[in-house]
Amino acid sequence: MNNVRFAKWNGLDAVYVSNDLSDGIITLMGAHMVSFTPKGSQDLLWISGKSIFEEGKAIRGGIPVCWPWFGRAGNPGHGFARLNIWALESVSMEKDGSTRLELFYQPKQTDFDFLSAKLFVTFGKGLKMELVTANNGKEDFVLGEAFHTYFKIGDIRTASVIGLDKTDYLDNCDNLKTVNQQGDVVFSAETDRVYTSKETAVINDPTMKRKIRIEKSGSNNTVVWNPWVAKSIAMADFGDQEYPGMVCVETANAFGGRVTLAPGKSNSMVCVITEEK
Ligand code: BG6
Repeated sequence: MNNVRFAKWNGLDAVYVSNDLSDGIITLMGAHMVSFTPKGSQDLLWISGKSIFEEGKAIRGGIPVCWPWFGRAGNPGHGFARLNIWALESVSMEKDGSTRLELFYQPKQTDFDFLSAKLFVTFGKGLKMELVTANNGKEDFVLGEAFHTYFKIGDIRTASVIGLDKTDYLDNCDNLKTVNQQGDVVFSAETDRVYTSKETAVINDPTMKRKIRIEKSGSNNTVVWNPWVAKSIAMADFGDQEYPGMVCVETANAFGGRVTLAPGKSNSMVCVITEEK
């Protein structure tokens, strides 16, 4: 069974994919994955019950594609790609039973129309995403980007992130101070960190009795974020009590990890998300 259909998702145009390995939904606004469920399992992605679903407004949850900058390096935050409509260019069924979509986006604004992005999304046993950025301009471009993955977890207070031990991070909760991680990442307060890491990270979620593995390539940074209490209350599109059920572990090129893209060159960033029981 390999089924691809177009339908609305919370009022937004979306592609629903179902095959023997997984089910998933991606909206054309932002090429934004909003659901990914390995067969026989539960959704790996989290969406806020308070999220806005409107063209031009960011979705709170799923996998925003931050591009061509990360965070507040520009305005709007996390770039404009997540707010704009991408084109679905192709759908293919792979030999292993997975389904591969190709989406395309080219900014309309003249300041950035020399850039283009392709997103290849493979719905298999795991979810593979590859973002390819091309610089068709005449000058170097310094690219920031992220798969801003919001994962559904049982309880942030018992969860941990493995794979970042002895790695430096910029602490966004402490004026971007550089800190060296000791042991696994555990959570007891607002956490907003940009790790210098090209390595695989694993979310250990004893409450849901599962692990989520995030493998990657072409990525210099892993961002770990949970807003905790005060920041959740301050965000209108984030429920006041929702923070225990999510964690962002993002595949990124951000801050000092941004990529300089020469004219005529392209760059690829990949993440592969799988569930381990
Ligand atoms: C994270 C950043 O990646 O995204 C945080 O590290 C930020 O600082 C969060 O608050 C959410 O960003 P936004 O723009 O979607 O509210």
